Amino acid sequence: MIVQHHLPRDLFRGKTVFVTGGGSGINLGVASNFAALGAHVGICGRTKDKLDRAAVGLRELNAHADGKVLAVAADVRDPAALDAAIARTQAELGPIDVLVAGAAGNFLCPAEELTPNGFKTVIDIDLLGSFHASRAAFEQLRERRGCILFISAPQAFVPQAYQLHVGAAKAGVDNLMRNLAVEWGRHGIRANSIVPGPIEGTEGLKRLSSPEVDERAKQAVPLHRYGTVDDIGQAAVFLASPLASYITGTVLLVDGGSALVGSALWNETVQTLPRGKR
Ligand code: COA
Ligand code: NAP
Repeated sequence: MIVQHHLPRDLFRGKTVFVTGGGSGINLGVASNFAALGAHVGICGRTKDKLDRAAVGLRELNAHADGKVLAVAADVRDPAALDAAIARTQAELGPIDVLVAGAAGNFLCPAEELTPNGFKTVIDIDLLGSFHASRAAFEQLRERRGCILFISAPQAFVPQAYQLHVGAAKAGVDNLMRNLAVEWGRHGIRANSIVPGPIEGTEGLKRLSSPEVDERAKQAVPLHRYGTVDDIGQAAVFLASPLASYITGTVLLVDGGSALVGSALWNETVQTLPRGKR
C-alpha cells in the first residue's frame, strides 16, 4: 500500500471514515487506505460475515494509531437501518469526517430484457442508497466540516451495452454529488465523485469481463493495465485530505485513461456472450 510509504501514517488519526459497501472490493480498498493512515473506520453492507472478516484486516491497519473499527449490517435501501448504523458510528467512533458512498449492484442485461424491478433495484442501491447515506450523515459532516466521496462509474457518461440501469444510476449519483457540493458548501462540506476504471480482482469487473477478453482489454487501456483497489484508495485519501481542501463538485477519473477510448471493446464482448454467461 503506497500511502504508508509516502504520507504521514497519522494523517487521519482521530478522524472517522464511514464506507457503505465497505466489506469488499474497491470500497474495502478505500477503507484500508484510510485505516493505514490512522483513521477510525466504520463499514456497512448486507452480509455481516463478510464485514466481520474485513474488519479484522482493518484493525491491523489502524492499530498503530489506536484506531477503532465498526462493522455493521445495513442495507442502503433501508434509510432507518442506515440512520441506525451512522448513529452507532458516531457513538462508537466519533462523528463522521469522511463518508464514502460506495455500495452498488450490477449485472449485465440487454435493455429490452431488463424488468422494471431490475432497473429499480440498481437505482435503489446506487442512487437512493447514496442519498440515504448522505442525508443520514449530514449532521455529523456539518459538525466536522467533512466531505463525501461517491464511488461512481464510467457508465455515467460513456454509454455501455447492457449497462443502461447502471449508467442511469451513476449519472444520478454524479448529479446528486454536484447538488450537494453547491448546497452544503456553506457548511464546509465538500462532495466529489471518483470514477474507477476496470479494477482487477473485483466483483464489478468479474461481472462485466471474462478471462478471454482480459488481455485485450488491458492493452486497450492507455496505461496498458487494469487498476488496483489501491489506485482508488489513494485517490480517495487525496480527495479527503487537506491537499484537496478547495476541491468540490468534481468527478475524478482514476481509470488509466480508459474513458478516452470509449466502450467499444466491452460492447463487442458482452453482445457476443451466450445468455448463460451473463
Ligand atoms: N439479469 C437481469 N435481471 C436481473 C439480474 C440479471 N443478471 N440479476 C437480478 N436481476 C433482476 C431480478 O430478476 C429482479 O427483478 P424481477 O423481480 O423483475 O425478476 C431484480 O433484478 C432484483 O433482483 P434480486 O435478486 O431480488 O435483487 P437483490 O436485491 O437480492 O440483489 C443485485 C441486488 C441484483 C444487484 C445483486 O446482483 C447484488 O446483490 N449485487 C451486489 C454485488 C455487486 O453487484 N457487485 C458489483 C458492484 S459494481
Ligand atoms: P463489490 O465488492 O461487490 O462492492 C459492492 C459492495 O456493496 C459489496 O461489499 C456489497 O456487499 C455492498 N452492497 C451491495 N448492495 C448493497 C446494499 N443494498 N446495501 C449495502 N451494501 C450493499 O464490487 P466492486 O466492484 O468493488 O464495486 C465497488 C464500487 O466500485 C461500486 O460502487 C461500483 O459501482 C464501483 N465501480 C467498480 C468498478 C470495477 O472495476 N470493479 C469500476 C467502476 C466502478 P453485500 O453484497 O454484502 O451487501
